[in-house]
Amino acid sequence: MEHQTHYTKVSVALVGGGTIAPLHAEYLLSSPTCSLSAIIDPFPPGKDLATKIGVPYFDSVQSLLSSEIQSPDAYIICVPSSLHVQVSTDVITHGRPKAILIEKPFCTDSNAGEQLIELAKSKSCRILVGHHRRFHPSIVAAREAIGDGKLGKITAITGTWIAKKPDTYYSSAQWRSLRSAGGGPIWTNFIHDIDVLHYLTGSRVKRIWAVSAVRHRENNSTLPADLVEEGASIMLQFANGVVGTFIVSDYVPSPFGWEAATGDNPLYPPAPVAVDSYRIFGTQGTLTEPDGVLWTYDAAEVSRLGLEEGWNVPIRRDALHVGDGIPFQQQVEHLARVIRQGENPRCSEEDGLAAVKVCEAVITALEAGDGTPVDIHF
Ligand SMILES: NC(=O)c1ccc[n+]([C@@H]2O[C@H](COP(=O)([O-])OP(=O)(O)OC[C@H]3O[C@@H](n4cnc5c(N)ncnc54)[C@H](O)[C@@H]3O)[C@@H](O)[C@H]2O)c1
Repeated sequence: MEHQTHYTKVSVALVGGGTIAPLHAEYLLSSPTCSLSAIIDPFPPGKDLATKIGVPYFDSVQSLLSSEIQSPDAYIICVPSSLHVQVSTDVITHGRPKAILIEKPFCTDSNAGEQLIELAKSKSCRILVGHHRRFHPSIVAAREAIGDGKLGKITAITGTWIAKKPDTYYSSAQWRSLRSAGGGPIWTNFIHDIDVLHYLTGSRVKRIWAVSAVRHRENNSTLPADLVEEGASIMLQFANGVVGTFIVSDYVPSPFGWEAATGDNPLYPPAPVAVDSYRIFGTQGTLTEPDGVLWTYDAAEVSRLGLEEGWNVPIRRDALHVGDGIPFQQQVEHLARVIRQGENPRCSEEDGLAAVKVCEAVITALEAGDGTPVDIHF
């Protein structure tokens, strides 16, 4: 007889019911291993979402804990970025969950993030960071190809996150315009890219150089000193010697950014043709992602032509085999396995902190505005 183990579902509360929350809610509600026990948000969006999808609503963690609802096993923290540490601290201290999944950025101040890591350890709470791209099938396939040596040794990377955010993106939530609140394309978008590049290169950025792009968007709503950047040009040096460049802009119509290149967030439609946002260069080939194209020299062709391997040989184009899977859905299932089966977080608090430190360094460089390198200590 087939042996079956029946578990009760991992109960998860969402803290913050704004823009990204419905996506987490969708995959919690349809999950075979997790359930959505409540939405916590002191402001109207969370209450509206809870009413819409029919789950219990609370205005604070404390009010959930003093209700009849069972204390959740886990929380997903999707509040404005600069509140991640404060809200996570509150949740860990009072809710005593087994794990929390903190949306990216893990924190907006690495010192506060380090204290949160200590607190979580002392309370035996696992931390996962919501860099969901690690679950994207194209990134899974890229990791495998790199691990199999298809690129040889990685020497360099280049990437872009270029898209146009509508003006209401900024006017609808004030924190998005404030650097100190974790707004802007470095904290909001590039942080994902840097995590992907850490994941793919197997190394961390140790030094950056960065300058701001000229601002074209009108925004008089805040103090210029704290106003978020519109874009930047960034040079990267990784601890393992890989070098890279990256362009960021959120005021240019373009498919050359993760969301348009993948369509993995239903809010942002995919480009009509496959495009790349990362190029990874190695001694044996080049890989573009997330379109999954591998460029190499075919050894048989090299020998048939009787040539030395190099640019005289026609370069070969192969598509990587990419599996299925919806990153936000996979991330929720992974959260359950971290709790139930002790699986290690695919994106740990240390990974999240490493990406934060790169963003902090980029902001420092943008504020200096003189191209001076900034070192990152991890
Ligand atoms: N993984 C991704 O691709 C992705 C995409 C979008 C946003 N995010 C991240 O998710 C977080 C939220 O972003 P958003 O765009 O949904 O923001 P948002 O402003 O749309 O929503 C934030 C919600 O948090 C609520 N809130 C504020 N203070 C709170 C508190 N103390 N306790 C509970 N709730 C509180 C607000 O009322 C609001 O409903 C950000 O850190 C952002 O970087 C991640």
